Amino acid sequence: MRWCWVLLLAAVALAQNSEEELDLAEPCDPQTCQLPECRCASTDIPGNLAPRDTPQFVMVTFDDAVNVINIETYREVLYDRRNSNGCPVGTTFYVNHEYTNYQIVNELYNQGFEIALHSISHRTPQTWWHEAGLEDMRQEFGDQIEQMAQFANIPQDAIHGIRSPFLQLSGNATFQVIKETSLTYDCSWPTITSLDPGLWPYTLDYASTQDCVIPPCPTAALPGVWVVPMVSWRDLQGIPCAMADSCFFTPPMNDEDAWFQFITRNFESHYFGNRSPFGFFVHEWYVRANPAVERALIRFLDVINNIPDVFMVNTKDVVDWVKNPVPVNEYSQKACNLNQPTTCRQAVCGPLTADHTEMQYWMAVCSQCPTNYPWIGNPLGN
Ligand SMILES: *[C@@H]1O[C@H](CO)[C@@H](O)[C@H](O)[C@H]1NC(C)=O
Ligand SMILES: [Zn+2]
Repeated sequence: MRWCWVLLLAAVALAQNSEEELDLAEPCDPQTCQLPECRCASTDIPGNLAPRDTPQFVMVTFDDAVNVINIETYREVLYDRRNSNGCPVGTTFYVNHEYTNYQIVNELYNQGFEIALHSISHRTPQTWWHEAGLEDMRQEFGDQIEQMAQFANIPQDAIHGIRSPFLQLSGNATFQVIKETSLTYDCSWPTITSLDPGLWPYTLDYASTQDCVIPPCPTAALPGVWVVPMVSWRDLQGIPCAMADSCFFTPPMNDEDAWFQFITRNFESHYFGNRSPFGFFVHEWYVRANPAVERALIRFLDVINNIPDVFMVNTKDVVDWVKNPVPVNEYSQKACNLNQPTTCRQAVCGPLTADHTEMQYWMAVCSQCPTNYPWIGNPLGN
């Protein structure tokens, strides 16, 4: 009878651990890891294109809640812009739930911008994200797909990417949730060593060789999950910064010309290098608080929107190009990538009570009103 017990215990142990069982990623061999499904972490240009044949992508992204205040900046800086091929520009918004106005999310989506996820709670402290496991990630990001789609009335399959609060990865779990949902990529992983030449997006089928700036980073094999590295800028002292608003040695905040030069210099290290996608990763408050920075940004965008081989696009469009790289002359002829428009039946809901705090919330949505304030474990506020 003894072996019977051993088997039973083994079966119980297996069942408990089954969702944790992941294979350790093996070193990447570019012969077996091939596009469009697989790509090793590398600074090589996809499709072995020469730099001059490679579209220079520019990814402008904004983090955090979208509301009636920051939409003013988005309208000023981003609306009615086109790339040199006539297609509307892209921008990616990493949106967290609390205090987000979903009617404005709907407006941004209908402008052709990408709506991506930045978690439901954006909770503090940062160390919570360091410790978080797969079930936490399912609640923060998996459930946010449905929540965003419902309240902003956008298709679930228009949502592709995530960025962790504080850029704090949760090891494998951040990427497991991408794998088990309809998501495609993460854009929270900075590199401070692969800047020039910059690291191109890659998949986690095999071991990443990217530097781990904010551990824990994933080490499991997670086939088909894309990493869009945040290739750091260099500040005026050469110190890397993952987001434009996290650079330390910046030009004076009121010096538009110096800021224009600063942005341009960082852009040029991509454009005159391996053309890895250039990121302008920022929070809206930084732009609003510094009018000279806003003017410098607008000037920079005016310049690049007129360069024939530069394209300001949604982050998802960069992943799509990397999967199927085509030379710039072909790319610029392609039909524009537009969002399928949706309508917003506006409702303002509240006061809604939340279980996680005493506070009451008002919520602007494009759907029926929820009964309770949506939160972790109850993303639709039923
Ligand atoms: C990720 O998964 C691998 C393979 O199972 C494991 O060795 C590693 O400890 C995990 N890391 C984290 C941070 O979860
Ligand atoms: Zn944030």
